Amino acid sequence: MNADKMSRKDIFLKYSESGRDNLIPVLQEIQEAEGFLSEESIIAVGNHLHLPTSKIYGVATFYNQFRFHPQGKNHIQICRGTACHVLGSASVQEVLEKMLKIKAGETTKDGLFSLEVVACIGACGLGAVICVNGNFHAKVTKDTIEEIVENYRNISE
Ligand code: FES
Repeated sequence: MNADKMSRKDIFLKYSESGRDNLIPVLQEIQEAEGFLSEESIIAVGNHLHLPTSKIYGVATFYNQFRFHPQGKNHIQICRGTACHVLGSASVQEVLEKMLKIKAGETTKDGLFSLEVVACIGACGLGAVICVNGNFHAKVTKDTIEEIVENYRNISE
């Protein structure tokens, strides 16, 4: 956890009102502070806001901004906006999920890669676009994605 980030306790103090209205901002701040939403944090949020954990999971899984696993050493974001979709992002995602043996929102067992689906990242003319650890890769196709990922694997091992 980053020392500059708020602790869970601080977040709960900031959102002292119980109830569903504060759920999304509380989850966003906890993810920001802790990197992902652990089972333990979901339970703590439930206790704080007086909401059942099933309801919290129901809401949190509806939004693809929330992660339930720690990010991998290499975090891959794949744009699934309309322009990238037309340019083949669905097949790129399919190859990624197959080669990494994870679904979007998950992290590989060795912790090397995590995959996240994001909405348009503003480079539509360059689709399909992926972003790995903040570095953009343009015009990615199902034929080039494997090499890109392998390069990150090689520099990480
Ligand atoms: S749709 Fe992918 S960058 Fe806009």
